[in-house]
Amino acid sequence: HSTMDMDDDAMENGHMSHDEVISLNDSTGENKLKIPSVLENDKEEVVYTVRAQKGETEIFDGTKTKTYGYNGSFLGPVIRFSKGDTVKIRTINELDEETTFHWHGLEVSGEADGGPHNSLKPGEEELIEFEVTQEASTLWFHPHPEGKTSEQVYNGLAGLIYIEDDNSKSLGLPDEYGKNDIPLIFQDKTFDDEKQLNYSAAMNEDGTIGDTSLINGTLNSELTVNKEKVRLRLLNGSNARNYTFKLNTGDSFVQVATDGGFLNEPATLNEITLTPSERAEIVIDFSQLNTEEELALINEEDGSILLPFDVTDQRGEDSSIPEEMNDFSITEEEMKLPVTKKVELFGMMDQVTINGKKFDRERIDFTQEQGVTEIWEIYNKPDEMGGMIHPFHIHGAQFKILSRNGEEPPANERGWKDTISVEPDETVKIAVQFKHKGVYMFHCHILEHEENGMMGQVKVE
Ligand code: C2O
Ligand code: CU
Ligand code: CU
Repeated sequence: HSTMDMDDDAMENGHMSHDEVISLNDSTGENKLKIPSVLENDKEEVVYTVRAQKGETEIFDGTKTKTYGYNGSFLGPVIRFSKGDTVKIRTINELDEETTFHWHGLEVSGEADGGPHNSLKPGEEELIEFEVTQEASTLWFHPHPEGKTSEQVYNGLAGLIYIEDDNSKSLGLPDEYGKNDIPLIFQDKTFDDEKQLNYSAAMNEDGTIGDTSLINGTLNSELTVNKEKVRLRLLNGSNARNYTFKLNTGDSFVQVATDGGFLNEPATLNEITLTPSERAEIVIDFSQLNTEEELALINEEDGSILLPFDVTDQRGEDSSIPEEMNDFSITEEEMKLPVTKKVELFGMMDQVTINGKKFDRERIDFTQEQGVTEIWEIYNKPDEMGGMIHPFHIHGAQFKILSRNGEEPPANERGWKDTISVEPDETVKIAVQFKHKGVYMFHCHILEHEENGMMGQVKVE
């Protein structure tokens, strides 16, 4: 029996789930891409109200799909903060089940973070308050109740957060919201014959993958742009699917920001892969592309057409992308620090673990001192099937990638991150510092893995 035969047997037994990719539909482009509204606040106080609610959404013409949303029936508004703001958010649970409000990527105290310990019962509300101390970035928010995160996100609870600061305002990057600065939340869903989302029927223990692509909740979307530079803020908001974004023509674009801030300099790319919950800001220069051809953003993973562009003849301002955008650095000191936390990701389906253990809300796995940088080493231990990519996320902190398998990370990962893809048998070293105190989750962001216990807790004191 050779190894090859063993693989064949395994395949027949149906254990190859992580190698199967269900293809997404091609967007026909018949619908205008929806742009989320921007949540208004009371300027003097910066108080926002965010309600988790149930609703019905017309995703397919003439049919109402039961969905969840924030301040609406599906997904949520964009919440804009400025660095230095003291923000108050009144969070209200109008669902029939418990939920939490987690601010993914925000450096806030454990109490404000909205992890599984901060759950609100139906009808409950809570006022949270924090100061925005981190730099300009595109973050997001979603629920995190234990055992229900994956289903609630799948049903539609997710929204974006934009932080702006003096730097972001002075860079001259495209910033006209909805015109040349476009939020894009990519998700995949499966709809049943009645065009309903049926999470328990669609659920896969190894990560729920759908066949229908929604962008900002829009089916078959198309985006109209002018012949100018357009900034796309990409969020992989899916439960489990990886996306490799690429232009159908193969033309290059530049990445300007990672999860938690601007890169020092723009990185020219032909494609970019985002695992669940990762973000990237990219700029496509439509004034330089041959717009005689059909242009679209595609997913290289399965070749599907995600977002066709309708390019008008209108020319925009001829802005340029600055060569220097940030002062992110990894210090010699950080490079010399010893590894003090080890995280081993292992398993598949409902057998996933971190350091051989499953999540236990009563157990603190690590402690770390507030304001002190520690080196975490994340290892993805392969199984006899080869294993799969796990997107590893830590709450309450933006961290730095020091190395991938001992090598310097690629140019477009030399910036603040809160989630990283870790390939089978890969070891990633990261420098982590928490600005605040509290209990924070760290976990695989394949939401079904998280639910299956691929999550631990670090207590910062
Ligand atoms: Cu996107 Cu535990 O978070
Ligand atoms: Cu998070
Ligand atoms: Cu995982």
